Amino acid sequence: MNSHKSPRTNTPDHPLAFGIDIGGSGIKGAPVDLATGEFAQERHRIATPQPSTPRAVAEVVHELVDAYDLPTEVPIGVAFPAPIHHGVIRFIANLDQSWTGVDLPALLAQETGRRVVGINDADAAGVGEVRYGAARDAQGVVLVATLGTGIGSALLVDGTIVPNTELGHLEIDGFDAETRAADSARSREDLSWEEWAGRLQRYFGVVEDLLSPDLIVIGGGVSKHHEKFLPLLHLRAPVVPATLRNAAGIVGAAAHAAGGSQLA
Ligand code: BGC
Repeated sequence: MNSHKSPRTNTPDHPLAFGIDIGGSGIKGAPVDLATGEFAQERHRIATPQPSTPRAVAEVVHELVDAYDLPTEVPIGVAFPAPIHHGVIRFIANLDQSWTGVDLPALLAQETGRRVVGINDADAAGVGEVRYGAARDAQGVVLVATLGTGIGSALLVDGTIVPNTELGHLEIDGFDAETRAADSARSREDLSWEEWAGRLQRYFGVVEDLLSPDLIVIGGGVSKHHEKFLPLLHLRAPVVPATLRNAAGIVGAAAHAAGGSQLA
């Protein structure tokens, strides 16, 4: 991989943090300018190793960190697709099962020789959207849902995250909800936008009844096609597309590592 030479920023006005987003198909990283929430350098992506064991994934994280000349004081945050309770992966739906029980920050610190902070990927998206995106400065109860391989959820109350909500795993109509309503179900079952929107309507209808959010933000790569399915949803709360889209995990993980997120 080409080395990305020195980041352009890391000044008091434009502090930097490095964000990494670990997903089922790719592991992506970029330095983030925390003043703007934008990438300070081009993002780099490496395919997720198969099997996606802790050791193999940690090596990719190391490779990504080494691809940039990051000053040692630049904080590193990693968004990870599982609930992380005080650093420890509680269970894992969409990566190798051997992640259960792993202490993520400890593993990555050992591998990279640097301090690394972990956060659930949807919580990272929530931090990104509330700080720089569609939920910027939103008050009240905000739900950020990411639709991808799984369904991720971030619940924010006046900008503070209640971490690890895992609403993608609600059991609805006898199914683990994400297996029916995630974007991966749309492609796997070749659903039309209308068919998929029907599943989303059922899913968000249940979530809305449980939580009464004031705003729902829809993220994940598919949110770039929001005009195909968001108008088909009829919910009480306003539903808006994420503005950071696929960058939200990286940006939110970086902001979280720099101490810019409010976690309950
Ligand atoms: C995981 C969540 C994650 C979501 C999106 C779910 O299967 O349990 O922790 O946020 O997928 O990646």
